[in-house]
Amino acid sequence: MSPGLAADSAQQSHSFNALKDSKTLKPTSILHRTPWQPPIALAAEGIYIDLEDGRRVIDGVGGAAVACLGNSHPAVMQAIKDQVDKVSYVYNMQLSNQPAEALAKRLVDTSNGAFALCGFASGGSEAMESVLKLARQTIVIPWKYAWDIVFSVSSYSARSYADILDDVHFHHVSPAYAKRFQRADENEEQYVERLRQELEDKFLQLGPDTVVGFVAETVVGATTGVVSAPKGYFRAMKSVCDKYGALFILDEVMSGMGRMGTLHAWESFGDNVAPDIQAVAKGLGGGYASIGAILMSQKIADGIRDHSENIRKQGAYLDKLLQQRLTGPNKLAAPYIFDIRGGGGFWAVEFELGTAGFKGDSFAMLVQARALDNGLIVMGMTGGANLEGTKGDHVMLSPAYNVTKEQIEKIADIFSQSVEEVLKEYNVQ
Ligand SMILES: Cc1ncc(COP(=O)(O)O)c(C=O)c1O
Repeated sequence: MSPGLAADSAQQSHSFNALKDSKTLKPTSILHRTPWQPPIALAAEGIYIDLEDGRRVIDGVGGAAVACLGNSHPAVMQAIKDQVDKVSYVYNMQLSNQPAEALAKRLVDTSNGAFALCGFASGGSEAMESVLKLARQTIVIPWKYAWDIVFSVSSYSARSYADILDDVHFHHVSPAYAKRFQRADENEEQYVERLRQELEDKFLQLGPDTVVGFVAETVVGATTGVVSAPKGYFRAMKSVCDKYGALFILDEVMSGMGRMGTLHAWESFGDNVAPDIQAVAKGLGGGYASIGAILMSQKIADGIRDHSENIRKQGAYLDKLLQQRLTGPNKLAAPYIFDIRGGGGFWAVEFELGTAGFKGDSFAMLVQARALDNGLIVMGMTGGANLEGTKGDHVMLSPAYNVTKEQIEKIADIFSQSVEEVLKEYNVQ
């Protein structure tokens, strides 16, 4: 035992009572997560932590399964110092950096082909949030705004975000917790089949076209306390996702990055079934850096790249069509188009209406209303180009990333027709 280690249970219970005794508490400006003020750590080495009251305690849980190398590991400290000496910060919209590139490559290279790309986040919550955004972005169906995500109810995200994830889009199925929920009259295989059927029924109830994905924690950590799923569970759940074109998503924020004895928990505790998208955090930074990662398969990477490529191509086509239909020779709208601008899938048409009157209405709003009558939703904004708010009426167009060429043509047609109709109706020549 390390010198000064507090092992005496009487002393510990004394400390615990003191913690809860408000008279012994020091003032704090932190809104602590515990009902009492936690002791202050002054120093730490390996799994030992020295407290302000002089005791040395063992961290038996690595904070929250985070400190996978303990504190003050000399190699990690040296690497951090070396890096801060070289580059301490660059912004990822502008620049990349060597450690990030090397880490991403390592995560991809060690996945035996499961993952093709990696994104970084600042921790587990942000990684899971990004996973959900990525799933929606990959699967989202053009012109259909219905979408659903199904969580295993025992997953951390299902519980932790219960107050912010609405029950219109976020749905739950039973946890995979055999010791509590497998019935006496069923064996493991039958229990798994019951869970598989429940997920399939949920997909069918929601309308399988709208289901973006199913989310589970490979080994459920803090929510139910290290509960692994019965054999065959992940294979069965993935088969439902594959059948309906939904994504199979794993949250390995707590159980991944070596915690279960394999780099990914699914390699040992998840039927060796790789997910389409996975979140990792905690053990990734080991407490030395606040970092999480989003790992995605080739299918997802291709989807994201395809959509980016597609929206760049379709956006350029939309620009060309708008120019032709609104500013071409003899076009009624031509004198009133101030600018057509944008890029990718984000475009705006700004109008310059001079003295043309619209009976007190905003031209952009009239176009928005007419376009809707004609079957197209656009966003009209009233003048913001000058302080008086009399100039700068514009309409925004930002179609889905996977919009098709035919749909772009329809958008350009309805939009230009709606502009002309409003001009004619108000006798603007
Ligand atoms: C499974 C799981 N997912 C996500 C999170 C959120 O991670 P963080 O606390 O790093 O934001 C946690 C946190 O404990 C977790 O256990």
